[in-house]
Amino acid sequence: MPRVGVVGATGAVGTVTLELLAERGFDDVRAFASARSAGRELAYRGRTLAVEEATPAVLGSGDLDLVFFSVGTEASRELVPPTADGGARVIDKSDAFRLTEGIPLVVAGVNDEAAGSEPVVANPNCSAIQLSCVLKPLHDAAGLACVRLATYQSMSGAGDAGIERLRAIEPMRADLMMDWDFDGEEFSEEWKLRAETQKILGLPELPLQAACVRVPVLVGHAQAVWLETERPLAPAEAAEILVAAPNVELAELPTPGAAAGRDAVLVGRIRRDPTADHGLALWIVNDNLRKGAALNAVQIAEGLLARSALAA
Ligand SMILES: NC(=O)c1ccc[n+]([C@@H]2O[C@H](COP(=O)([O-])OP(=O)(O)OC[C@H]3O[C@@H](n4cnc5c(N)ncnc54)[C@H](OP(=O)(O)O)[C@@H]3O)[C@@H](O)[C@H]2O)c1
Repeated sequence: MPRVGVVGATGAVGTVTLELLAERGFDDVRAFASARSAGRELAYRGRTLAVEEATPAVLGSGDLDLVFFSVGTEASRELVPPTADGGARVIDKSDAFRLTEGIPLVVAGVNDEAAGSEPVVANPNCSAIQLSCVLKPLHDAAGLACVRLATYQSMSGAGDAGIERLRAIEPMRADLMMDWDFDGEEFSEEWKLRAETQKILGLPELPLQAACVRVPVLVGHAQAVWLETERPLAPAEAAEILVAAPNVELAELPTPGAAAGRDAVLVGRIRRDPTADHGLALWIVNDNLRKGAALNAVQIAEGLLARSALAA
Protein backbone atom coordinates (compact mmCIF):
# COMPACT_ATOMS: atom_id res chain seq x y z
CA MET A 1 0.00 0.00 0.00
CA PRO A 2 1.31 3.48 -0.82
CA ARG A 3 2.15 6.02 1.85
CA VAL A 4 -0.70 8.51 1.46
CA GLY A 5 -1.11 12.15 2.43
CA VAL A 6 -4.39 14.08 2.43
CA VAL A 7 -3.78 17.84 2.37
CA GLY A 8 -6.90 19.81 3.30
CA ALA A 9 -8.01 16.86 5.44
CA THR A 10 -10.18 19.04 7.68
CA GLY A 11 -12.21 20.52 4.80
CA ALA A 12 -15.39 19.42 3.01
CA VAL A 13 -13.60 17.43 0.26
CA GLY A 14 -10.77 16.23 2.53
CA THR A 15 -13.27 14.75 5.00
CA VAL A 16 -14.89 12.68 2.25
CA THR A 17 -11.47 11.72 0.85
CA LEU A 18 -10.50 10.24 4.24
CA GLU A 19 -13.83 8.37 4.44
CA LEU A 20 -13.29 6.83 1.01
CA LEU A 21 -9.66 5.89 1.72
CA ALA A 22 -10.71 4.26 5.00
CA GLU A 23 -13.46 2.26 3.26
CA ARG A 24 -10.96 1.05 0.69
CA GLY A 25 -8.46 -0.10 3.31
CA PHE A 26 -5.67 2.46 2.79
CA ASP A 27 -3.85 2.24 6.11
CA ASP A 28 -0.70 4.34 5.83
CA VAL A 29 -2.41 7.73 5.76
CA ARG A 30 -1.37 11.13 7.12
CA ALA A 31 -3.64 14.18 7.43
CA PHE A 32 -2.46 17.71 6.66
CA ALA A 33 -4.05 21.16 6.84
CA SER A 34 -2.93 24.72 7.58
CA ALA A 35 -1.25 25.74 10.83
CA ARG A 36 -4.75 26.64 12.10
CA SER A 37 -5.72 22.97 12.38
CA ALA A 38 -2.36 21.44 13.26
CA GLY A 39 -2.77 19.07 16.20
CA ARG A 40 -6.50 18.48 15.63
CA GLU A 41 -7.43 14.82 15.78
CA LEU A 42 -9.44 13.09 13.07
CA ALA A 43 -10.98 9.64 13.41
CA TYR A 44 -9.59 7.13 10.90
CA ARG A 45 -10.16 3.37 10.85
CA GLY A 46 -10.64 3.05 14.60
CA ARG A 47 -7.73 5.30 15.51
CA THR A 48 -6.97 9.01 15.34
CA LEU A 49 -4.82 10.91 12.90
CA ALA A 50 -3.16 14.03 14.30
CA VAL A 51 -3.41 16.78 11.69
CA GLU A 52 0.02 18.01 10.63
CA GLU A 53 0.82 21.42 9.24
CA ALA A 54 1.31 21.21 5.47
CA THR A 55 4.69 22.74 4.66
CA PRO A 56 6.84 22.38 1.53
CA ALA A 57 9.56 20.72 3.62
CA VAL A 58 7.34 18.05 5.15
CA LEU A 59 5.41 17.29 1.96
CA GLY A 60 8.56 17.22 -0.13
CA SER A 61 10.58 15.06 2.25
CA GLY A 62 10.17 11.89 0.20
CA ASP A 63 8.11 10.13 2.90
CA LEU A 64 4.91 10.06 0.81
CA ASP A 65 4.02 8.16 -2.39
CA LEU A 66 0.58 9.61 -3.11
CA VAL A 67 -0.82 12.95 -1.97
CA PHE A 68 -4.40 14.15 -2.42
CA PHE A 69 -4.72 17.95 -2.31
CA SER A 70 -8.06 19.62 -1.60
CA VAL A 71 -7.01 23.14 -0.62
CA GLY A 72 -7.47 26.52 -2.29
CA THR A 73 -5.69 27.61 -5.48
CA GLU A 74 -2.94 29.59 -3.75
CA ALA A 75 -2.11 26.84 -1.26
CA SER A 76 -1.94 24.29 -4.11
CA ARG A 77 0.35 26.58 -6.11
CA GLU A 78 2.68 26.80 -3.14
CA LEU A 79 2.59 23.19 -1.93
CA VAL A 80 2.04 20.94 -4.96
CA PRO A 81 5.38 21.56 -6.76
CA PRO A 82 7.61 20.73 -3.74
CA THR A 83 5.47 17.66 -2.99
CA ALA A 84 5.93 16.38 -6.54
CA ASP A 85 9.64 17.28 -6.46
CA GLY A 86 9.95 15.13 -3.34
CA GLY A 87 8.80 12.13 -5.37
CA ALA A 88 5.09 11.84 -4.48
CA ARG A 89 2.39 11.47 -7.11
CA VAL A 90 -0.07 14.34 -6.60
CA ILE A 91 -3.79 14.49 -7.36
CA ASP A 92 -4.86 18.11 -7.00
CA LYS A 93 -8.48 19.25 -6.65
CA SER A 94 -7.92 22.98 -6.99
CA ASP A 95 -8.05 24.93 -10.24
CA ALA A 96 -4.34 25.82 -10.00
CA PHE A 97 -3.12 23.41 -12.69
CA ARG A 98 -6.23 22.11 -14.44
CA LEU A 99 -5.72 24.04 -17.67
CA THR A 100 -1.90 23.96 -17.59
CA GLU A 101 -0.49 22.32 -20.69
CA GLY A 102 1.17 19.02 -19.90
CA ILE A 103 -0.88 18.45 -16.75
CA PRO A 104 -3.52 15.77 -17.27
CA LEU A 105 -7.08 16.69 -16.29
CA VAL A 106 -8.74 13.39 -15.54
CA VAL A 107 -12.24 12.08 -14.98
CA ALA A 108 -12.01 8.41 -14.04
CA GLY A 109 -14.11 6.40 -16.46
CA VAL A 110 -13.89 9.12 -19.11
CA ASN A 111 -10.24 9.78 -19.98
CA ASP A 112 -8.21 7.60 -17.58
CA GLU A 113 -5.53 7.14 -20.24
CA ALA A 114 -4.63 10.86 -19.91
CA ALA A 115 -3.03 10.13 -16.51
CA GLY A 116 0.32 8.89 -17.75
CA SER A 117 3.46 9.25 -15.73
CA GLU A 118 3.23 12.98 -15.00
CA PRO A 119 3.87 13.76 -11.33
CA VAL A 120 0.72 15.90 -11.00
CA VAL A 121 -2.79 14.95 -12.10
CA ALA A 122 -5.50 17.61 -11.89
CA ASN A 123 -8.99 16.70 -10.69
CA PRO A 124 -11.58 18.81 -12.57
CA ASN A 125 -14.28 21.15 -11.37
CA CYS A 126 -17.22 19.22 -9.90
CA SER A 127 -19.61 20.43 -12.61
CA ALA A 128 -17.22 19.45 -15.41
CA ILE A 129 -16.85 15.95 -13.93
CA GLN A 130 -20.54 15.07 -13.88
CA LEU A 131 -21.11 16.64 -17.29
CA SER A 132 -18.19 14.77 -18.89
CA CYS A 133 -19.36 11.42 -17.50
CA VAL A 134 -22.56 11.88 -19.53
CA LEU A 135 -21.23 13.70 -22.60
CA LYS A 136 -18.36 11.28 -23.36
CA PRO A 137 -20.45 8.20 -24.19
CA LEU A 138 -22.97 10.31 -26.12
CA HIS A 139 -20.14 11.91 -28.11
CA ASP A 140 -18.65 8.50 -28.88
CA ALA A 141 -22.03 7.38 -30.21
CA ALA A 142 -23.25 10.39 -32.14
CA GLY A 143 -20.63 13.20 -32.12
CA LEU A 144 -21.34 16.29 -30.05
CA ALA A 145 -22.05 19.43 -32.03
CA CYS A 146 -22.82 21.80 -29.17
CA VAL A 147 -23.87 21.88 -25.54
CA ARG A 148 -25.89 24.41 -23.55
CA LEU A 149 -26.62 24.05 -19.89
CA ALA A 150 -27.80 25.70 -16.71
CA THR A 151 -26.42 24.50 -13.39
CA TYR A 152 -27.98 24.62 -9.93
CA GLN A 153 -25.05 24.10 -7.57
CA SER A 154 -25.18 23.24 -3.91
CA MET A 155 -23.59 25.34 -1.19
CA SER A 156 -21.12 22.59 -0.18
CA GLY A 157 -19.46 23.24 -3.54
CA ALA A 158 -18.04 26.32 -1.81
CA GLY A 159 -16.56 24.17 0.95
CA ASP A 160 -17.11 24.44 4.68
CA ALA A 161 -17.59 28.21 4.32
CA GLY A 162 -20.50 27.60 1.90
CA ILE A 163 -22.07 25.07 4.25
CA GLU A 164 -21.84 27.57 7.12
CA ARG A 165 -23.39 30.31 5.00
CA LEU A 166 -26.34 28.09 4.16
CA ARG A 167 -26.81 27.21 7.83
CA ALA A 168 -26.53 30.83 8.91
CA ILE A 169 -28.74 32.57 6.40
CA GLU A 170 -32.48 32.40 6.50
CA PRO A 171 -33.89 33.26 4.08
CA MET A 172 -31.13 32.89 1.48
CA ARG A 173 -30.03 36.28 0.16
CA ALA A 174 -30.06 36.88 -3.58
CA ASP A 175 -26.39 37.91 -3.62
CA LEU A 176 -25.35 34.44 -2.52
CA MET A 177 -26.58 32.88 -5.71
CA MET A 178 -23.58 33.70 -7.89
CA ASP A 179 -20.49 33.69 -5.73
CA TRP A 180 -17.77 33.35 -8.35
CA ASP A 181 -15.53 35.95 -10.01
CA PHE A 182 -17.38 37.88 -12.72
CA ASP A 183 -15.54 39.28 -15.77
CA GLY A 184 -18.45 41.44 -16.95
CA GLU A 185 -19.83 38.66 -19.14
CA GLU A 186 -19.24 35.30 -17.49
CA PHE A 187 -18.70 33.89 -14.02
CA SER A 188 -15.42 32.00 -13.56
CA GLU A 189 -17.44 28.83 -12.95
CA GLU A 190 -18.95 29.16 -16.44
CA TRP A 191 -15.71 29.50 -18.42
CA LYS A 192 -14.03 26.84 -16.26
CA LEU A 193 -16.86 24.45 -17.06
CA ARG A 194 -16.40 25.09 -20.79
CA ALA A 195 -12.57 24.97 -20.84
CA GLU A 196 -12.28 21.94 -18.56
CA THR A 197 -14.95 19.92 -20.38
CA GLN A 198 -13.25 20.70 -23.70
CA LYS A 199 -9.90 19.51 -22.29
CA ILE A 200 -11.33 16.33 -20.69
CA LEU A 201 -13.20 15.32 -23.84
CA GLY A 202 -10.32 16.29 -26.13
CA LEU A 203 -12.71 18.60 -28.03
CA PRO A 204 -11.07 22.05 -27.79
CA GLU A 205 -13.54 23.61 -30.23
CA LEU A 206 -16.75 22.18 -28.74
CA PRO A 207 -19.26 25.05 -28.42
CA LEU A 208 -20.44 24.97 -24.79
CA GLN A 209 -22.37 27.70 -23.04
CA ALA A 210 -23.33 27.54 -19.38
CA ALA A 211 -25.20 29.62 -16.83
CA CYS A 212 -24.23 28.64 -13.28
CA VAL A 213 -25.94 29.57 -10.04
CA ARG A 214 -25.86 28.32 -6.50
CA VAL A 215 -29.06 27.18 -4.87
CA PRO A 216 -29.90 26.71 -1.19
CA VAL A 217 -29.14 22.98 -1.26
CA LEU A 218 -26.49 21.41 0.98
CA VAL A 219 -25.08 18.70 -1.31
CA GLY A 220 -25.72 17.81 -4.95
CA HIS A 221 -25.24 19.80 -8.14
CA ALA A 222 -28.01 19.65 -10.76
CA GLN A 223 -27.63 20.46 -14.46
CA ALA A 224 -30.27 21.06 -17.14
CA VAL A 225 -28.49 20.20 -20.40
CA TRP A 226 -29.49 20.74 -24.02
CA LEU A 227 -27.13 19.18 -26.54
CA GLU A 228 -26.98 18.77 -30.28
CA THR A 229 -25.34 15.78 -31.91
CA GLU A 230 -23.92 15.44 -35.41
CA ARG A 231 -25.85 12.24 -36.06
CA PRO A 232 -29.41 11.56 -34.88
CA LEU A 233 -29.66 10.06 -31.40
CA ALA A 234 -33.07 9.03 -30.10
CA PRO A 235 -33.75 9.45 -26.36
CA ALA A 236 -34.18 5.67 -25.97
CA GLU A 237 -30.84 5.06 -27.67
CA ALA A 238 -29.16 7.70 -25.47
CA ALA A 239 -30.63 5.98 -22.40
CA GLU A 240 -29.25 2.61 -23.53
CA ILE A 241 -25.80 4.13 -24.01
CA LEU A 242 -25.88 5.84 -20.60
CA VAL A 243 -27.00 2.69 -18.77
CA ALA A 244 -23.74 1.09 -19.88
CA ALA A 245 -21.55 4.13 -19.12
CA PRO A 246 -19.15 4.05 -16.15
CA ASN A 247 -20.20 6.05 -13.07
CA VAL A 248 -23.61 6.85 -14.59
CA GLU A 249 -27.02 5.61 -13.48
CA LEU A 250 -30.44 6.34 -14.95
CA ALA A 251 -33.15 7.69 -12.67
CA GLU A 252 -36.60 8.92 -13.59
CA LEU A 253 -36.49 12.26 -11.80
CA PRO A 254 -33.09 12.65 -10.11
CA THR A 255 -32.85 15.14 -7.24
CA PRO A 256 -29.90 16.37 -5.16
CA GLY A 257 -31.43 14.52 -2.21
CA ALA A 258 -31.30 11.27 -4.18
CA ALA A 259 -27.72 11.89 -5.35
CA ALA A 260 -26.21 13.01 -2.02
CA GLY A 261 -24.05 10.33 -0.45
CA ARG A 262 -24.10 8.21 -3.62
CA ASP A 263 -21.29 7.55 -6.06
CA ALA A 264 -23.23 7.58 -9.33
CA VAL A 265 -23.95 10.50 -11.60
CA LEU A 266 -27.74 10.32 -11.96
CA VAL A 267 -29.31 11.13 -15.34
CA GLY A 268 -32.99 11.45 -16.09
CA ARG A 269 -35.58 13.31 -18.15
CA ILE A 270 -33.85 12.22 -21.37
CA ARG A 271 -36.01 13.65 -24.10
CA ARG A 272 -35.92 15.06 -27.59
CA ASP A 273 -35.25 18.79 -27.84
CA PRO A 274 -37.41 19.93 -30.75
CA THR A 275 -35.64 23.31 -30.99
CA ALA A 276 -32.66 21.66 -32.76
CA ASP A 277 -32.32 19.12 -35.60
CA HIS A 278 -30.57 16.50 -33.50
CA GLY A 279 -31.42 17.96 -30.10
CA LEU A 280 -31.51 16.09 -26.83
CA ALA A 281 -32.40 17.44 -23.38
CA LEU A 282 -31.38 15.84 -20.09
CA TRP A 283 -31.16 16.45 -16.37
CA ILE A 284 -28.01 15.41 -14.49
CA VAL A 285 -27.45 15.36 -10.71
CA ASN A 286 -24.39 14.34 -8.73
CA ASP A 287 -22.92 14.50 -5.22
CA ASN A 288 -20.32 17.24 -5.74
CA LEU A 289 -18.22 16.04 -2.81
CA ARG A 290 -18.01 12.41 -4.06
CA LYS A 291 -17.71 11.84 -7.84
CA GLY A 292 -17.48 15.63 -8.17
CA ALA A 293 -14.40 15.75 -5.96
CA ALA A 294 -13.07 13.12 -3.52
CA LEU A 295 -14.30 9.96 -5.25
CA ASN A 296 -12.90 11.01 -8.61
CA ALA A 297 -9.49 11.64 -6.98
CA VAL A 298 -9.53 8.24 -5.29
CA GLN A 299 -10.59 6.54 -8.54
CA ILE A 300 -7.71 8.26 -10.37
CA ALA A 301 -5.33 6.90 -7.72
CA GLU A 302 -6.82 3.41 -8.03
CA GLY A 303 -6.27 3.58 -11.79
CA LEU A 304 -2.64 4.56 -11.27
CA LEU A 305 -2.17 1.75 -8.76
CA ALA A 306 -3.77 -0.78 -11.09
CA ARG A 307 -1.40 0.29 -13.83
CA SER A 308 1.51 0.25 -11.38
CA ALA A 309 2.20 3.87 -12.18
CA LEU A 310 2.63 4.42 -8.46
CA ALA A 311 4.87 2.73 -5.93
CA ALA A 312 2.73 0.09 -4.21
N1 LIG B 1 -16.52 21.38 -2.22
C1 LIG B 1 -16.64 20.90 -3.46
O1 LIG B 1 -17.70 20.36 -3.87
C2 LIG B 1 -15.49 21.03 -4.40
C3 LIG B 1 -15.66 20.49 -5.65
C4 LIG B 1 -14.67 20.63 -6.57
C5 LIG B 1 -13.50 21.25 -6.23
N2 LIG B 1 -13.31 21.75 -4.99
C6 LIG B 1 -12.02 22.37 -4.70
O2 LIG B 1 -11.39 21.58 -3.69
C7 LIG B 1 -10.59 22.43 -2.86
C8 LIG B 1 -11.02 22.26 -1.41
O3 LIG B 1 -12.38 22.55 -1.32
P1 LIG B 1 -13.24 22.30 0.00
O4 LIG B 1 -14.64 22.50 -0.47
O5 LIG B 1 -12.87 21.03 0.67
O6 LIG B 1 -12.78 23.56 0.90
P2 LIG B 1 -12.85 23.77 2.48
O7 LIG B 1 -13.98 23.02 3.06
O8 LIG B 1 -12.78 25.24 2.69
O9 LIG B 1 -11.48 23.11 3.03
C9 LIG B 1 -10.23 23.67 2.74
C10 LIG B 1 -9.14 22.84 3.34
O10 LIG B 1 -7.88 23.39 2.95
C11 LIG B 1 -7.09 23.59 4.13
N3 LIG B 1 -6.18 24.71 3.90
C12 LIG B 1 -6.50 26.00 3.67
N4 LIG B 1 -5.37 26.74 3.50
C13 LIG B 1 -4.33 25.88 3.62
C14 LIG B 1 -2.93 26.03 3.55
N5 LIG B 1 -2.36 27.20 3.30
N6 LIG B 1 -2.16 24.93 3.72
C15 LIG B 1 -2.73 23.72 3.97
N7 LIG B 1 -4.06 23.52 4.04
C16 LIG B 1 -4.85 24.58 3.87
C17 LIG B 1 -8.08 23.84 5.22
O11 LIG B 1 -7.46 23.58 6.46
P3 LIG B 1 -7.74 24.39 7.83
O12 LIG B 1 -8.64 23.50 8.64
O13 LIG B 1 -6.40 24.46 8.44
O14 LIG B 1 -8.32 25.70 7.46
C18 LIG B 1 -9.14 22.81 4.87
O15 LIG B 1 -8.74 21.52 5.29
C19 LIG B 1 -10.76 23.85 -3.41
O16 LIG B 1 -9.73 24.11 -4.33
C20 LIG B 1 -12.10 23.77 -4.15
O17 LIG B 1 -12.21 24.72 -5.16
C21 LIG B 1 -14.29 21.64 -4.05
